[in-house]
Amino acid sequence: MTVPGDILVDVDDTSAPFRDGPLGPEPSATVIIFGATGDLTSRKVVPALFELSRAGYLAPETAVVGAARRVKSTEGFRAEMAAAIRAHARTQPIAEADLALFLRRVHYQPLEFEVPSDYTALREFLETPSRGRTFPRNRVAYLATAPAFFSMVTHNLREAGLLYEPGGEPWSRVVFEKPFGHDLQSAQALNRQLSQCLAESQICRIDHYLGKDTVQNLLAFRFGNGLFEPIFNRRYVDHVQVTVAEDQGIEGARGAFYDQTGALRDVVQNHVLQLLCLVAMEPPSVCGAEEIRAEKVKVLQALCAEDAGFGWAVRGQYGEGPLGRAYRDEDRIAANSNTETYAAMRVYIENWRWAGVPFLLRTGKRMPVRRTEIVVVFRRPPTQLFRTVRCVGDVCRLAAMEPNLIIFRIQPDEGVLMDLMVKRPGMNMDLHRVTSRFYYRDAFPQALPDAYERLLVDVIRGDQTLFTHSTEIERAWAFLTPLLDYWGAVPPRDFPNYAAGSWGPSAADRLFDGLGGHWRNTREP
Ligand code: BG6
Repeated sequence: MTVPGDILVDVDDTSAPFRDGPLGPEPSATVIIFGATGDLTSRKVVPALFELSRAGYLAPETAVVGAARRVKSTEGFRAEMAAAIRAHARTQPIAEADLALFLRRVHYQPLEFEVPSDYTALREFLETPSRGRTFPRNRVAYLATAPAFFSMVTHNLREAGLLYEPGGEPWSRVVFEKPFGHDLQSAQALNRQLSQCLAESQICRIDHYLGKDTVQNLLAFRFGNGLFEPIFNRRYVDHVQVTVAEDQGIEGARGAFYDQTGALRDVVQNHVLQLLCLVAMEPPSVCGAEEIRAEKVKVLQALCAEDAGFGWAVRGQYGEGPLGRAYRDEDRIAANSNTETYAAMRVYIENWRWAGVPFLLRTGKRMPVRRTEIVVVFRRPPTQLFRTVRCVGDVCRLAAMEPNLIIFRIQPDEGVLMDLMVKRPGMNMDLHRVTSRFYYRDAFPQALPDAYERLLVDVIRGDQTLFTHSTEIERAWAFLTPLLDYWGAVPPRDFPNYAAGSWGPSAADRLFDGLGGHWRNTREP
């Protein structure tokens, strides 16, 4: 996320046509997708590449090569990708001319991950001009594969001479999807194996949350405004809540993966801890990848829980409820599964800024709404000078003073909300809580890009800010692995313990014991 030093224009008319950040001089590249016949390719990677192509973010020569086990022709692969784009592209309807132009970039080469000669054949395919076609020498290898293949594919790429030395031209970069390891030891082992083939500067570990504009806005909001940063600390903040709630459950083929994974590994280790880092980190000295990632690492280093037992964390699994059947009845889930579909915890960041401030984190499947938000709850004013009135419909009552909140709405209804106290009109000095709302959809005419679009652009730009560094990954696993081990060793006694469509197990409320707050459970937009 390198930012130009000068403010070039003063854009106050947000309705003016605005194409952000021209990339030029744009490097062209060959993007090779390993696992090209899988779900991730057709749902996310290829539709995102199509959007980038359509919007002019890809250099004209940029090529996309699908590589997977199944034998098929380039024509056959193009037809499949056309269907995928029609089904999943963000901008609908699709302009046929844009689609045709993009499909011309697309090629296919059969390849078995474990067969070294297939990589040699891939290299010949890329390096032998045919019928006037040449592939850009810069290479992105996108591993949309099961993690079990990460190391093998990288090793075979290197052996076949498909990776260049770091730091030069042409360049090669390798993109790894999550999950990156399943505990500290496996993540360390994977980092070690990859470091034998690649420099850290060539590795892009995806956490797609970092590609979301609203997640990047956490830094913009905190460090681009003089107003808030001085109060983001232990003197003014009572506690912080991070919620990644999903109303969907585990459907279809995903069950086999999820039942081996659970909420802690699937969402807390990556998305939730990344959100925590961004809301809590210190301002970096410059807005560069190394500097920002180093600040996030410091947050993870300072992360701790209150007690040596594991009472600071709560797990849950959904049973049957208003949103549908029980987790244990979903496809490909063991009937006696103890996998958690909900996890919550109360943690602290023991540094000068945040010591003593509780951070309450939670994620769950089959909660009442899909809602990712961070709520910063401020301390109440020291004295209650005024009467506070709380009204529900026409009925108003005197109430205790309410804290101010800043709510970072990551999705949906993307924006930032602030709960403030104002004087209620009338003859008394009564205060009333109001919400001041900024929504992206109101302020900006252009739709928010998909996270994968931004991440793919950054891979080509060579900007690693929005990819997780090996140290971040390992620190996050180091914090969670003792809890994972404990949960693995001590089966839950009360599963299922929340109804599909509820806000999670009641035990999660006790994470507020001694704090005087509660989870912000609301369906409000
Ligand atoms: C993925 C998890 O990383 O993130 C999924 O594997 C989860 O289980 C998804 O549903 C949530 O992403 P988003 O962008 O829909 O909030």
